[in-house]
Order: sequence, then structure tokens, then C-alpha cells
Amino acid sequence: MDLLSAHGLSKRFGGIVALDDASFSARAGEVHALLGENGAGKSTFIQILGGVLRPDAGTITLGGSDYRPVDPDAARARGIVTVFQELSSIPDLTVEGNIWFRREPRTVLRTVAKREIRRRTEALLDRYGFPALHPAQDLRRLSLAERQLVEIAKALAQEPRILVLDEATSSLAARETDWLLQLTRRLAEEGRLVVFISHRMGEVRAVADRLTIFRGGRTVAAHDAAAVSDEQIVTEMIGRRLERLYPERVSSATDRIAVGARDFSSGPRLPGVTFTLHEGEVLGVGGLQGHGQRELFQGLFGVARTQGEMTLWGTPAAIASPRDALVGREGIALVPEDRRGQGLMLSKTVRENLTLSVIRRMSSHGVLSRPREAALVKEMVDFLRIKVSTPEQQADTLSGGNQQKVIFGKMLLTEARVLLLYDPTRGVDVGTKSEIFQMMRDLAARGYAILFYSSDLQELVNVADRVMVLREGRVAATLAGDQVSEDAILRAAMFDEAA
Ligand SMILES: Nc1ncnc2c1ncn2[C@@H]1O[C@H](COP(=O)(O)OP(=O)(O)OP(=O)(O)O)[C@@H](O)[C@H]1O
Ligand SMILES: [Mg+2]
Repeated sequence: MDLLSAHGLSKRFGGIVALDDASFSARAGEVHALLGENGAGKSTFIQILGGVLRPDAGTITLGGSDYRPVDPDAARARGIVTVFQELSSIPDLTVEGNIWFRREPRTVLRTVAKREIRRRTEALLDRYGFPALHPAQDLRRLSLAERQLVEIAKALAQEPRILVLDEATSSLAARETDWLLQLTRRLAEEGRLVVFISHRMGEVRAVADRLTIFRGGRTVAAHDAAAVSDEQIVTEMIGRRLERLYPERVSSATDRIAVGARDFSSGPRLPGVTFTLHEGEVLGVGGLQGHGQRELFQGLFGVARTQGEMTLWGTPAAIASPRDALVGREGIALVPEDRRGQGLMLSKTVRENLTLSVIRRMSSHGVLSRPREAALVKEMVDFLRIKVSTPEQQADTLSGGNQQKVIFGKMLLTEARVLLLYDPTRGVDVGTKSEIFQMMRDLAARGYAILFYSSDLQELVNVADRVMVLREGRVAATLAGDQVSEDAILRAAMFDEAA
């Protein structure tokens, strides 16, 4: 018997069809993966389930009776709790303040029962074995991954019968991801239903009992996970065969040093790293989450204060702000961790986001003509296959993966030849991932120098020429050639002997 089933769901946004007669059914006690390309309609479906959106047509049945939530509270009352793709946590509150927001236990005098909140938070974190979260921490000080964990805690605090995870692993590193995958299995064994969305096939394989595939807003297939190959899943997702995910590794690194860093430090998490990034090279950055990777990227880009020496194409560089970093072809461009915070102007159009940096670059010697701008934008939209109805579409109406593509396009249009890619494939579908990796190789072959962090170890192993592993903000090892493996990276990340 299905616990949850949906039929004939449709949803349009103006001219865009997000869901088109989609169906879905899942049972209690299973982990059910929902798969599909960027823009396939997954999050739209999840938002309908979670009471955030109402469908234009279609019906949903939950536990044998009709289900039409009018808002998230109504969904919760029926036992459905969602961890949405875009985080909703409140930066001004603490971890525990976020977890119990609007549901704080009260004293008899109706004031917030602070000690009770602390007790419940600790019990919750303990019961599910949460990695490294402290109830009293301010949210604004936490990394994206830590904020993601808070969202998960908040969902679990509501004892869901159905837990929906929309790309909840996308910003987590290996250890936290493993923890979440195990937790997911445990919840299913307790008889709950977990609906699991991820663009990482390895994760889907590790947890899913069954899976449903959306393409272009329609349900194209549903399978028992054990009965279907990765190849078939990918083919059904993207509507064609994917020849290969990772490009052939042809190193194009030269002797010329694009970025040289010596005792480069930025805050307590990055006490000092020394390394070189060469022209034509893809240098991977590995290590456990929180060991200075963010600080390194932010420091190099001038977002965080730094000390130590840095050279750019052989000359000493003093980068105190992103404005210093983005100086034309000699400059540095960043794909940042937090796309909604630093990467995109959400209320602006796709065109405006893409060409902002171009306009900055061109304004010193003339203006960007309309036809020229339109041509550049069209080229990027086509090249990255950004799913928009028109470039005038507002950035916040794009699906998560398509927002990430706009950030990538924006970075390419700066023309900077040192690229800092912080988890550039986060939330990006498998077809586009393969294109991004190929593009990284092509750019490297054209002399670009790329520093590449990924929360997915497999990507580092398969795409980078060398991998520099950080531990406690220092270089624990730099692996090259045959030395590069998931195992070697993890060992260097955790133990001294590998250094
Ligand atoms: N508010 C909105 N206005 C206009 N279009 C929208 C809006 N919300 C979603 N869409 C469009 O609906 C389509 C489906 O988006 P959805 O977010 O459901 O995709 P998704 O499968 O979750 O993709 P991803 O893997 O990138 O997260 C996309 O083309 C998106 O641009
Ligand atoms: Mg989505």
C-alpha cells in the first residue's frame, strides 16, 4: 500500500511549465529517490507536497485520504516535513533558536523556556548523532554546511512521518554526507518515508530502495533501485546517453606560476599555506570540511583579510577586495560557496547577472552595445544550457542548478584567467556536470589556472591534476598522478603520517 501518491499534477509559472501531468507514489519504510535534470520539476513537486505551492491540477493522497495542504503548517500537521533546497534559517538566531522557531516550549508564564530548549536541543542532537553543532552558536557565523545541518535538525525536531530532503547533501562534505545517509536509512527502518533528492548518483545508490525519474515536468519512470543500472537512470533523466562523466585527463600545466602563495593565512582557520598553482593546471583542494578551504578561497579573492605572500603571474599581488581581484585577464574570478548570498543578485534578471562584470570591464573604454550584450548573453545561455524562458527572467525564479549555471557564466565573462571554483557543481545535474568538467579542461588547455574545491571527493580524484589536502589550515599533503585517490586524500586529511 502506498503511503503517498500523486496523480496528474501540473503547475505553470506564466509561460513556464514546471510540472506536466506528473505522478509519484511511495511507501512507508522506504527511501525514495526523486531524480531529474536541473529544471525537471523536482523542487516544484516538493513545494506542492510541503504546502508552499498549490498545483494547477492533480490530486494527492496521503495515508488513504485526500491531501491538499494550504500551507507548511498544514503539511506538518499531516506529518510531512521538508528540508527545502534553499535554506530558510534565520541568521540572527542561534542554532537552537532556529530549531524551535515558532514552536518554542513555554513556561507557565508563557515566556520562552530557555533551559527546556537547551535540554531538548541537546537531546535531539545526541539522539541523531549530529556532527559538531552547538545549541548556542549564532547562525550567521556558521558555514553553509553547518546551516544545512541546522535545517535537518529543525525538520527532525518535528518528528516527521514523511521527511523530504531536497538536495540536503549538496553542501555537505564526505563525513557529514555519510552521517546523513545512515540517518536516512535508519528513519526508513523506523517505518518512515524519506523522499530523497540528489544529483550524486553514489548517494542515491547508497540509500534508495526505489526511485522516480522526472523529465521536463513529467514522470518518465519509476524503478526498484536494485533492478536498474546507472546508465539507464542517466539516460532516462537526460533523454540521451551520456558518453562519459569525466573528461580524459590530459595535463596542460606549464612551468609558469599563476598563483604563488607563501605562508598565506586568513584568520584562525587558515594559519598558513604555501603552494603554487600553474598556468594550465587544475589544482584540487581537499580535506575535511572546515579545515580552511573556504578561508583560502575567500582570502585569495579578497573577501577576507589575509597575511603572507601572494604572487599573481609572477608579480606580488595585494588583493584587499574583490575589486582588486577582478582586474581583467590578469585577475581572479570566484564561484562562491553561497550562491544566494554572494553569487547572484536574485531580484535581477539573468541578463543583468551575466553581464554585470562585463559592463564593469568595458565601462573604462566605452559602453556595451545592446546587440553585443544580447549576443554575449545568448552565447552563455546556449553554452551552459541555462533553462530560461527569456534572459529577462528574474534569477530567483530559476531552478537551483540553473542559478548555479548563471554564476558560472558570470565568472567566465569576467575573462579572468585564474579561476577559483568553490564547489562549482553543487546542485548541478549529471549532464551539465560532465560539461562543466570538460569546460574546465578546455579552459586549462587554453592557459587558465584553476583552483578547484569540491565536496564530492570523486570529482577531485577524476578532474584535478594535483590535489592539495588541507588539515587544520595547513597543507597536509599534495598528491599528484597515481597518488591521487579517495583513500589517499582521506588519509592525508585525517592522519599525520601521510604528510
Ligand atoms: N516562481 C517561478 N517563476 C517562474 N518559473 C519558475 C518558478 N519556480 C520554478 N520555476 C521554473 O520551473 C521549472 C522547474 O523548476 P524546479 O525548481 O522544480 O526544478 P528542479 O527539478 O528542482 O531543478 P534543480 O535540480 O535545478 O533544483 C524551472 O524551469 C524553473 O525555472
Ligand atoms: Mg530543485
